[in-house]
This record gives sequence, C-alpha cells and structure tokens, in this order.
Amino acid sequence: MSENASGQIDTVMTEDRLFPPSEEFASKSAIGSMEAYQQLYDEVKADPTAYWDKVAREELHWFKPYDTVLEWNNPLAKWFIGGRTNVSYNCLDAHLDTERRNKAAIIFEGEPGDIRTLTYQQLHREVCKFANVLKGLGVKQGDVVSIYMPMTPELLIAMQACARIGAVHSVIFAGFSAEAIADRNNDASAKIQLTADAAWRRGKQLPLKEVVDEALAKSPTVEKCIVLRRVGNEVSMQEGRDCWWHDLMDEASADCPAEPLDSEAPLFILYTSGSTGKPKGIKHTTAGYILWAKKTFEWVFDYRDEDIFWCTADCGWITGHSYVAYGPLAAGATVMMYEGAPNWPADDRFWDIIERHKVNILYTAPTAIRAFIKWGDGHVDKHDLSSLRLLGTVGEGINPEAWMWYHEKIGGERCPIVDTWWQTETGGIMMSPLPGAIPTKPGSCTKPLPGVIPSIVDEELQEVPQNHGGMLCVAQPWPGMLRGIWGDDERFKEQYWTKVPGKYLTGDNARTDDDGYYWIMGRIDDVINVSGHRLSTIEVESALVSHDTVAEAAAVGRPDEIKGQAIAVFVTIKGDAQPTDELRKELRLHVRKEIGALAQPDDIRFTGALPKTRSGKIMRRLLRDIASGTEQAGQDTSTLEDYSVLAKLRDDEE
Ligand code: WT7
Repeated sequence: MSENASGQIDTVMTEDRLFPPSEEFASKSAIGSMEAYQQLYDEVKADPTAYWDKVAREELHWFKPYDTVLEWNNPLAKWFIGGRTNVSYNCLDAHLDTERRNKAAIIFEGEPGDIRTLTYQQLHREVCKFANVLKGLGVKQGDVVSIYMPMTPELLIAMQACARIGAVHSVIFAGFSAEAIADRNNDASAKIQLTADAAWRRGKQLPLKEVVDEALAKSPTVEKCIVLRRVGNEVSMQEGRDCWWHDLMDEASADCPAEPLDSEAPLFILYTSGSTGKPKGIKHTTAGYILWAKKTFEWVFDYRDEDIFWCTADCGWITGHSYVAYGPLAAGATVMMYEGAPNWPADDRFWDIIERHKVNILYTAPTAIRAFIKWGDGHVDKHDLSSLRLLGTVGEGINPEAWMWYHEKIGGERCPIVDTWWQTETGGIMMSPLPGAIPTKPGSCTKPLPGVIPSIVDEELQEVPQNHGGMLCVAQPWPGMLRGIWGDDERFKEQYWTKVPGKYLTGDNARTDDDGYYWIMGRIDDVINVSGHRLSTIEVESALVSHDTVAEAAAVGRPDEIKGQAIAVFVTIKGDAQPTDELRKELRLHVRKEIGALAQPDDIRFTGALPKTRSGKIMRRLLRDIASGTEQAGQDTSTLEDYSVLAKLRDDEE
C-alpha cells in the first residue's frame, strides 16, 4: 500500500483482467482502435473550439449561425453564442426529410404488456400537438413546466413539446412525495403541472393525481394541471385548474414550427439531492447540451441505424433525459421504453423484453445488476439474449464481480461493457470506454471522452501521481456542462468552483492506474479514515462482493478511539446463504486476503436490503449514522422494511 500524503486516498485494490474488443466488433465501429481514440482525444484537447465549431456546424441545425464558439468566464461558460437552434427540431424535424422518417423512434412497452410504436413522423406530430396545447394554456418561452408522470411516451412527448416552444421543464420522478414536488415547484416557480391519473408499479396503481393534488395545495405559482389518463382510476378534477390530456389533444393543431431559440436558452431544470435540505435545481441550456448528448451517445454506444437501444432509466433522472428523451433521438435512434418494474410479473421481465423486441444495446444500473444476481441465473437462462451486442452501466461504481456476471451471463462474453461515469451536472457521459477502441477492465470507467480534461488533486491542490487517489475535477469547460443552480449563483460557485479554484469539482474521488485508466473511488464525503489511511468505500465493498455468498455490500466509517475510524459493513447475502457468525468470520478473512489487514471490516451486519435513494444509489450517509449510533456493533440488525423506510424519510427531506 502506498504512503499517504496530503490527503490522498490509498488504493488497496488490484484488478488486472483486461478485455480487448473483439476484432469483429472493432472492425464495425466508428472509432475502432486505441490509436483512433487517442488521435481524436488529442485533436480535441489541442484545439477544443476548432473541434466543437466543426461538429456543431455538421451535427446541429442552426436557424441562425453562432458568432463565437465559447466564452469562458470561470465558472460560467457560454457555448455557440449568438446562434439560434431548437432541441426538438434537432431530435425530430431533422429526420423528417431523410429515410429515418418512417423508422421507429420509440418502441414502448407498458407494465401491463401494452405495446406502442411511434415512428419519427408520428412522434413529431404528437409533440407538435402537445406544444400547441401548452401554448393554448398560455405557456410562454421561459415558463417552467413541472412534470410528474409515468414512464410512458407522453412523458417524452411533454419534454420534447417544452423544448419545442422554449418552455423549461422540471421532471420530477413519479415516486417522490407531495412535499418534494411542492418544494421543487416553488423553487422553480412552476406555472403548469403535468401528471397522470396513476402509474402502474408491480401490478399496483400509484395514485399520481392524488399526490399532485396535495402538492398543488402548496404550490401557489401553478395555474393549470394537465392529467393523462393512463390507468383509468377515479380521480378528482378541480374545476378551472385541471384538464384532461386527451380533451386538449383532440382540439390541438399539429402545426407547430420549432421556435428558434438562443443557444443558451434554458432547456431544463433537474433537481438532485444536495447535502443540505434545499433542493438543488441543476440548469442545462440548449445548444451545448444537445450537442453533448448526441455526440456522447454516438461515441459510447457506437450506435448503428439498425439497433434498438434500451436505457432502463426513468426520464425523471438525468440518464433518462440524455439517453432516452434527447441524445438517441438527436442521433435518429430507435429507443426502447419500458414503464414498469424489472420484477413484474416475474424476475425475468428485462430478459423477456430483450428477447421479444430483440434489443441490441442495454444500458442499466449496477443496483439492478446486483438485484438480478441475487434473484438467480435461472431467470436469465430461460431467455435468448443473442440480440445484445453492447452493454452499459451508470449511476454507481460496479463491483468487478458484478461486472463479470454481466459480461458472462448477459453479454455471453461477446458484448463489450461501457461503464459510464458522469453526473446530473455534466449533462452527459464524461468517462467511458469507446467499445470498439478501448480494452475494458472490470470496475474502471477507463478513459475520458474527447473534450474532457480530468484532473485529480490532493488537499493541497497538487495533481496526484498514478495509483494515488484524490479529488476528481474537470479542468476545462465542455459543451454539456451545467450552467448553474436555478436561482442560486452563490451555491453554484461554492459547491463546484471554490475548493479547487479554476476547476469543476465533481465531489467524487478517483485514481488512475499504470495504464492511465480511471477508477472512481466514491464520494469525497464517504472516505473512511483508518489509522491515517484514507480508504475508498468501493474497494472494501468490491472485496466483499467477490465472495460467493455476498450479493451487495456497503462500507462506512464509524468513530473508533484508537484508529480514528473503524470500518462497518452492511451486507446482503444470496438466497441460499445463512447469516451466521461463521460467515462473518469468513468474510472478514476474505477481505483481509483480498485487500489487506487494514481494510478488514470491524463490524459486519447482515441485512435483507440496503437503503437506497430513489435512483438506486446506496445511502452511505444514512448507514454511517446507523453504524455510529447506539446499536451494538456486529449484531444482526434491521430488515428490508426498516431500512427502506429510513431511506424514504431521508429522501423526502431533500
Ligand atoms: C454520481 C452522479 C450519471 C447519471 C446518473 C447519476 C456516481 C455515476 C458512475 C460510475 C462510479 C458513478 C458518482 C457521480 N456515479 N456513474 N460509472 N462509476 N460512480 O447521476 O445522480 O447526478 O449521480 O453518481 O458518484 O458523482 P447523479
């Protein structure tokens, strides 16, 4: 293990498996070798404005050309200044006089099994009509539209319609509470609310309209509410405020030219959890965002026109914005969209969907992959997954053993895996393998995309050497970067630009290895300090997950008089294992053997499930409180229900 200096993070993990792309895959890829990647990366780095100027002209439609590619007044970047374009035009109209016009834009499957396909022409028509509906209700450019809807085509239609007329959408995942919706509506001064009667979730009805009614009682700026009939349950409609989606659509004209909007016109606000109670509205704008979403989609997923691309994220998260609603459509892709839960009516729903629709690219989250592993291989083995040619992950680090399972069981050892690192704030993928070019290593997001200049620094702001962890920053602006926190410039500066002056601070720790590959080491706030050694959560967790019995693990620090912090881990085990003291001992030894005595956990608690945010991230903050609290170390604690209740309480505060 390396010596700790200046607050660097020690690394205890070694992973030397390497998976080069097959010759066949590489030969069909747009970027088909490490050399080609390196050449492009260097070209963009040497002259970013020249590169983005060329790409923006080629790939976007301009109603009015821009005068200046980039103006960088740290921390504010403006891209393509003076230009006028429209995100919805680039996603829809741009394909209408090409042979893509009759291609499926969306293949939708509802949870009850209803299937709908919308071609680019059909989607365009629906978006135009709904844009006219919004206009008819008085929505103007710059007005904020709050969206709380199930994952159906209408959600995407609503987002695209806002983009078409320059309204700013704020999508709130349809699992949040009335309180959370009201907080967000008030922060953004939302003018219109969109919702549905209910959503399907594991065969049950989630009463969205009921939740919205409660939220609107506390959202004084919202004047109108449009309700989609999805489930058909009884809902109360408030006279003068509430209207049915289908009534308004019946009357709406399908003629709605896309508004020529300023490059820097706000496109959307998306709230992410911050460390304090106030919701943090991340702001993205027009031209830079859509260019980044489109380009990163094409690079990372090596998209071909015949592919069906399935990103399993809900449009309520940034992943669903950039890789369902915008990036793939700008690239003319066919997007698979699924409404419901992965385990309804059975644990094989995803594999069933892939087999029936012949999905080619699957992009999902490590939390889902770990659940699939826990549910057992039988559900996978029942299905023909041979249509898949590429796999992706996003949202958290993936433990190498979960990566191997994904590679073998789902990818049949033939599909490259793109482990994509990025954030709500970055607008699109920042680091990822290019699947035909960059050999992968389980657990590493490998290399930065062209235009991304990472910088890893210690507490003294010095760049750390290879194999040392530090704070991950981005040293240069990129087109998809956030343009601020809605209504809070101070917080924007404070959060991202102050601690490391001149660079964007991501809030994650990372290191590079001998090959210059990047390894994300978890959130800065989650570092565990054992006897002066600063350890990353993911390395301890991955060591645990590499044991046969472990499905999922979370590591946190708790106060310890001697060592400063001791390591407490929360472990869920696979169906056939027993949570015994024997196993506890064995796991401790296993970690010791895998990554060393220093990283050996002091407390091991077995649990039915780990507390997660609604987007599926393990909530280590919450576990830290539990681990340092009054509960006795080492004892079996709490069940699934207890933890998920805690997680929900915490989430709603945010
Ligand atoms: C945080 C951002 C990225 C869109 C969905 C989440 C963690 C994300 C990875 C990855 C390790 C990852 C980071 C990041 N994260 N992807 N491939 N490997 N960690 O967006 O909710 O804004 O979360 O998710 O900690 O900062 P988000």
